Amino acid sequence: MSSRKIVEMGDPVLRQKCRPVTVINKKIKRLLDNMKETMYAANGVGLAAPQVGISKRIIVVDVGEGFWELLNPEIIFQEGEEVGVEGCLSIPGVAGEVKRAFKVKVKGLDRSGQEQIITAEGLGARALQHEIDHLDGVLFIDKADRISQGSLGG
Ligand code: NI
Repeated sequence: MSSRKIVEMGDPVLRQKCRPVTVINKKIKRLLDNMKETMYAANGVGLAAPQVGISKRIIVVDVGEGFWELLNPEIIFQEGEEVGVEGCLSIPGVAGEVKRAFKVKVKGLDRSGQEQIITAEGLGARALQHEIDHLDGVLFIDKADRISQGSLGG
């Protein structure tokens, strides 16, 4: 495994709508490994493929409830609301308050092509929503109030 350089705001890849993964080959599995390593190396709680320059619908998340990786993730259920502080590895040093669903169910594929459903609340739900937004070219600052300095991100 090796970590990749994280793309920062201003790079057009962060504003593109990413393409679904249609074939899970060696290259995709290597990308998943690299994304995992890149997220941990940056002390992030999540990472989306466009943040390493790849415009594909892939995310990794770890908020301390285990490691999650999903291809073609989709929110299939959401409930409640919570305002919380968020940051992004692609927008270093910036934090903001973002209103998100408190609970989500996300459907996607694992690296063997099996369907997975992840149910998460609180920070886990927030990270999943943040990373899925990246796949549609949406950044947290588009939704944030009270922008300030901060570091936690995905
Ligand atoms: Ni982010």
